[in-house]
Amino acid sequence: MTTKQPTFFVRDVPVYGDAVLAPMAGFSDVPYRALCRAYGSAMNYTEFVPVEALLGKRSPSRFWGRLDKQAGEHPMVFQIFGNDAHKILAAAQNILDLEPDIIDVNMGCSTRRVSGRGAGVGMMPQPQLVRDTFSLLAQHLPIPVTGKIRLGWDATQQNYLEIARIMEESGAALIAMHGRTKAQKYDGQANWDAIAALKQAVSVPVIGNGDVNTPADIDRMKAHTGCDAVMIGRAAIGNPWIFARRDRDSLALADAVQAIRLHVREMLAYYGDPHGLILFRKHLKRYLDDFSAAAPFLPLLLQTDEADVFVRLLGELETAVSDQQHP
Ligand SMILES: Cc1cc2nc3c(=O)[nH]c(=O)nc-3n(C[C@H](O)[C@H](O)[C@H](O)COP(=O)(O)O)c2cc1C
Repeated sequence: MTTKQPTFFVRDVPVYGDAVLAPMAGFSDVPYRALCRAYGSAMNYTEFVPVEALLGKRSPSRFWGRLDKQAGEHPMVFQIFGNDAHKILAAAQNILDLEPDIIDVNMGCSTRRVSGRGAGVGMMPQPQLVRDTFSLLAQHLPIPVTGKIRLGWDATQQNYLEIARIMEESGAALIAMHGRTKAQKYDGQANWDAIAALKQAVSVPVIGNGDVNTPADIDRMKAHTGCDAVMIGRAAIGNPWIFARRDRDSLALADAVQAIRLHVREMLAYYGDPHGLILFRKHLKRYLDDFSAAAPFLPLLLQTDEADVFVRLLGELETAVSDQQHP
């Protein structure tokens, strides 16, 4: 009998696999995480949540909802952000009873609303805040604490090595890095050399992130940087097969329809009908983009807010395509 070995550990939490769905506000919700896990994402992050929203009593709010997870969803990382070490600790302690496996501090968000007030990547120019935050969390939480960073604020302030060393010294159990600065936002090329330098500089596991668009890129980034795992964001939207290391080019429309069915089922179960269907629209286009045969059906699928009609249209799409293939 063969026993599956963990690929790496986040302190004492085993991770099986080396491709991880990135936290993405508006996308990495319970339904999409379920799908990506089914296709092979090795670890899942929640969308980021402001600590200020987590300090009081739990309420049925948008932000508390981001901490929902499915039974058996492991390892599950709750990602939070803030600009005050004590508030970050208080929020982390307040969400422990929801049983995350890991708490992650977002130090990568580049939007002005977040970074402008010293949270997200706005923490990176504040080494003392990073030290205080990780020391407090590591001392007071029973579960591992991790952080997701960028290269730094801009081209002239790329202090990721300094910040990573502080994180490690202060008790961080893993560092994920998006290889761009705050100033770059999502533009330009991600710097994989910097991810390699980070991996050399610390002894905790490193997750590399940025410009991983295909299954081959997963292996390329690993070979180039030596990172323990690769995090995939935008290229996973409408493309959960990347976690199964299947190229988009190799997919048939029937594969897309199958994933859409699964995903819509999860959306309806979690958000209800028709809200789940309406929220699914942003994913739908991404699933069908590459399939010209789906083009006539897309406007109809995007318009309906009736689950029955949606499922019927999907069936018609499948039939139309198989008729074309087998005249
Ligand atoms: C729509 C969207 C939402 C995002 N939300 C988050 C978030 O909540 N937390 C976080 O750490 N990063 C967030 N990111 C950044 C991604 O996790 C990732 O670092 C970035 O997209 C680069 O990876 P990629 O090139 O694979 O997309 C977001 C990115 C996008 C596109």
